[in-house]
Amino acid sequence: MNNLFADRMNNVHKSFIREILKVTEDPDIISFAGGLPNPRSFPVKEIGGAVSEVLSENGEEILQYSTTEGYRPLREYIAQRYLKKGLKVDADEILITNGSQQGIDLIGKVFLNKGDKVLIENPTYLAAIQSFGLFEPEFKSVPLLEDGADMDALKKILDEDKIKLFYSVTNFQNPTGITYSKDERKI
Ligand SMILES: Cc1ncc(COP(=O)(O)O)c(C=O)c1O
Repeated sequence: MNNLFADRMNNVHKSFIREILKVTEDPDIISFAGGLPNPRSFPVKEIGGAVSEVLSENGEEILQYSTTEGYRPLREYIAQRYLKKGLKVDADEILITNGSQQGIDLIGKVFLNKGDKVLIENPTYLAAIQSFGLFEPEFKSVPLLEDGADMDALKKILDEDKIKLFYSVTNFQNPTGITYSKDERKI
């Protein structure tokens, strides 16, 4: 039966995240491994209110098929938000995805050939490894220091290897929680 699967699945391991989250089904276990937010912090009432407002005001439009880029008023709102923070982006440059993994999957599809080198931080977000892994890249890693990636190691890797893309989580990195300093960001 195994040979029914596409060759690219041979290098795909079990989802680490799925394994970590499995234990959370047991109410007797409080797991700190999955990074679950405190459910008491969820704005359930506010989201309920927003959903019902949107459905009553734009219900037919919202439930209809739309462009693949996503709902234009939302893309315009996001572009405006970036503009306020000083980043000049246009709504046409915004693509709505269903979470980070769809974004990573799209980037993998568009940019990665089998064997391309993808640089990741060590350690990094498990789901990113899983999502990039489907495109059969060769992973290289750069160690993390307290204020970001080890720049000496990074320069060495970039000099020696033909890196296709670098996946870095610059704010509240997962799993270390570190945030890159201003200097590290500039480099
Ligand atoms: C670095 C990073 N990206 C993305 C996510 C999750 O994003 P999403 O739920 O949008 O896929 C997490 C969740 O812990 C994360 O740590």
